Amino acid sequence: MRRTVTRLFSLILLFSSAAAVEAQHGSIAEAPFSTPRDVAAGKQSFRSQCAACHGLDGSGGAVAPSLVSGTFKHGGSDEALFTVITKGVPGTAMTGFALDGREVWQLIAFLRSLNVARSAAKAPGDAAKGAQVYQANGCARCHTNGSGSGGFDGPDLSEIGARRTLAQIEQSIVDPDADVDAAYWSVRAEMKSGQTVNGIRMNEDMDSIQIREPGGRLRTLMKADLTRFEIVRTSPMPSFKDKISGADLQNLVAYLAGLGAAAREAENK
Ligand code: HEC
Ligand code: HEC
Repeated sequence: MRRTVTRLFSLILLFSSAAAVEAQHGSIAEAPFSTPRDVAAGKQSFRSQCAACHGLDGSGGAVAPSLVSGTFKHGGSDEALFTVITKGVPGTAMTGFALDGREVWQLIAFLRSLNVARSAAKAPGDAAKGAQVYQANGCARCHTNGSGSGGFDGPDLSEIGARRTLAQIEQSIVDPDADVDAAYWSVRAEMKSGQTVNGIRMNEDMDSIQIREPGGRLRTLMKADLTRFEIVRTSPMPSFKDKISGADLQNLVAYLAGLGAAAREAENK
């Protein structure tokens, strides 16, 4: 028993240090630079290094394709874009760029902002009705959205429309487990007393682990008191697949896509 516990702990330590390394170096696995300021920095690099071929606003030029449609011939994932920018497309004018990880992520953030701006404008739903769907389903229990009140178990949604495409927003609602930020992985532990505990993993050292329990209370667990311990990578957010669909879902997506729209327009001017 003792051995198993130790092995579990070392596994977990491995996971946590891998996540820390990624965060520092900006690996492909996660896009760490995507704030409005990063988008602005990405726009600057784009203008100086890419615009000659792809056009000032990314809409394409004589020699290079448009990058604003939201679909990419060579793949639209973070990883695919990262590879195209750093390695190029062999046999074409698109050569690889020797940029540091941060600058590449900022360029990707800028490209995403172009796609997002276009897709938000195309949201077919009714944002005002979407605000009611948001209220009715208790989203504010876990999220703030720029209007003052709201909970903190989930991320701040006040600029979600500037960060995510319509498809990503919809997926977050109907299939939250599909793409869970490591910051929201949780811990499930069993105490020697038999009690089970869960919460978001906040911090960990050799002897203890700090979690935030549902509802927000911080709690420190001593590893010596635990018999079992695992990291759960599914989302703490319940799926709304069976509760919100059809027009309600489209309206809710339109409402969220509109959050942060003003910030986005200012950035892209
Ligand atoms: C010398 C001209 C040139 C420059 C400068 C240039 N590109 Fe390209 N880029 C191209 C061409 C040509 C293609 C199309 C390659 C092909 O045929 O698939 C391309 C393709 C791409 C693609 C893939 C598009 C898709 O549909 O998959 C991305 C992303 C991209 N470029 C981003 C950038 C970024 C970011 C920069 C600046 C760091 C940049 N490019 C600079 C010419 C250029
Ligand atoms: C029990 C708390 C909880 C409730 C209720 C909840 N969420 Fe979430 N939500 C989260 C957590 C935690 C995350 C982050 C983990 C993840 O990506 O799934 C999240 C993520 C999201 C994201 C993705 C955010 C991003 O930065 O990509 C969106 C969009 C979202 N929620 C919308 C909603 C909407 C709309 C509702 C109501 C229909 C809702 N949530 C209800 C906890 C909640």
